[in-house]
Amino acid sequence: MKTVGHGFFQDPRIKEAKKLLRAAVEEHQKKITGLRPAHPELKEDYLALLKKFGDLRGGALFYQYLGSGIGNGALVELADGSVKYDFITGIGVHYMGHSNPDVIEAQIDGAISNTVMNGHLQQNTDSARLVELLSQQACKNGAAIKNVFLTTSGAMANENAIKMMFQKRAPASRLFAFEKCFAGRTLGMAWLTDKAAYREGLPKTIDVDYIPFYCESDHQGSINLAVNAMKKAIARFPKSHAGFVMELIQGENGSWVGNTEYFEALIKVCKDHDISVFADEVQSWGRTHELFAFQHFKLDKHIDVASIGKNSQVCATFFSDDHKPRPGLVSQTFTGASTQIAASLYITKQIVEGGYLGADGKIEKLHQRFKGNLEKIAQKHPQKIKGPWGIGAMVAMTLFNGDAVKTKQFTYKLFDNGVLSFMAGASPARVRFLMPVLKVTLEDIDKVCEIIEKTLHEME
Ligand SMILES: Cc1ncc(COP(=O)(O)O)c(C=O)c1O
Repeated sequence: MKTVGHGFFQDPRIKEAKKLLRAAVEEHQKKITGLRPAHPELKEDYLALLKKFGDLRGGALFYQYLGSGIGNGALVELADGSVKYDFITGIGVHYMGHSNPDVIEAQIDGAISNTVMNGHLQQNTDSARLVELLSQQACKNGAAIKNVFLTTSGAMANENAIKMMFQKRAPASRLFAFEKCFAGRTLGMAWLTDKAAYREGLPKTIDVDYIPFYCESDHQGSINLAVNAMKKAIARFPKSHAGFVMELIQGENGSWVGNTEYFEALIKVCKDHDISVFADEVQSWGRTHELFAFQHFKLDKHIDVASIGKNSQVCATFFSDDHKPRPGLVSQTFTGASTQIAASLYITKQIVEGGYLGADGKIEKLHQRFKGNLEKIAQKHPQKIKGPWGIGAMVAMTLFNGDAVKTKQFTYKLFDNGVLSFMAGASPARVRFLMPVLKVTLEDIDKVCEIIEKTLHEME
C-alpha cells in the first residue's frame, strides 16, 4: 500500500521539473569559469546594499561579500558580478561546493514537502533516515553512541551534549576543555570557549578547567603537562567534573591537530574518575580521513558523547545509552529545514561512498596538493610564511610570525585578489582554509596558491 506522499514524489511531472531545474542550474553555472572583477555598473548599488545590511545587523560584515545566489564548485559569484574562489565556505558550511546540482536536486524533495521546518513534534521520514545513517556511521568501528538528536546549530548540539553529561554526573558542575578551544556562542558555550573577549560582560555559567593542547614538537612533554594539569584540577575539585570536552582538531584556533596517545592518556584519567568523554566535531566532521575525527584518531571505544555541524548542514548530538537525557532536558521547536535534512542525507552518503575517505581518498589528495604548494611558497618566503599546518581539508598557515594585524590585512588583500579565506587563533594568528570538498579540484588548489603567492608579494 502506497501513501499519497509516495505518489506525489514519484509524479512524472515532478521528475521532469527536477530535470529542468538541474539543466537550468548547470547551464547558468557553466558561465562561471574563473575569477572575474566586479561589474562597474553594479558597484554602487552593491555597496549601498552592503552598507544598509551592515547598519541593520549592528555591524559590517567581515568581507564585502553578498552572493548573487549561484556559483560553480569552488567558485562563487558575488552580487556585484565578481567571481571568487571560496576556500573558507562560510567557515566550513558549503562543503558540497556552490550550486552543486546533486545537492540542489536532493533539496527539491525537501522544498516541495509539506513543511518548511522539521521539529521535534513533527518530522518527516527523511529525518528518520538521516538519524539511522548517522548512527550507523558513528558506531561502525565500535563506538557506543548510537543515539542521535538533531538540532539547528553547533552551539545547540554542544549545549545538548553538555546537559546530558551534567545530568548523568550530577551534582558535578565543572568541565574539562582544551586551552584555546572554541565551542560556540550561547551563554554556556561562551564560558566553555577559551577566549575572554567572547564572554566579556557575561555572567558566569560553567566552571571550566583548561588543559594545555598537544604540542607536536614536544610529544611526551605535552602529554605529561596535560595529564598533570588534569590530575591537579581533579585533586583540587574532587568529584566535581562531569565531562571532558575534546575539540580534537582546533579549528577556530588555526587547525591545530591532536594526537591519539595524547588523547588516550587524558581519557584514561577521565575514565578513572567517572568523567564523560565528549568529542566536539562541529568543525572536523567530514574533513579528516574518516567521517568522524574520533574515528581518525581511533578513539571510538572511549567516546560517550559527540556533536557534529557545519558540513552536515543539520547539527546533531550523539550519545550512549547511559547518557540518555531524562524527559524534558533537551528539545527544540526546530530540528532543521526539510531542505537541509535532504541535503544532509545526500552529503553524508557521498562522503561515505564517494571515495573521499581513507589514506588514498580524495580528501588526502586535496590535502597533499595544498600542503605541497604552500610548502613551496614557504621555502621561497621563509620570512613571511610558516607552515602549513592542519589535516585533511582543514589547512592553515602562519604569516609574519602570527602578527594579527598583518594577518587580517592579508585576508583582505587575498579577498581583493579573488580568494576567500579567514583568520583564526591569536598569538599566533593564522590564515585558514576550509575547502568545498565535494567539488574542489587540484587545479583550483593550484590557482588559489598562485594567488596566495602573488598576495604575499604585495605585502611588506
Ligand atoms: C568546534 C566548534 N564547535 C562549535 C561551534 C559552534 O557552531 P555554530 O556556529 O554552528 O553554533 C563551532 C563553530 O565554529 C566549532 O568550530
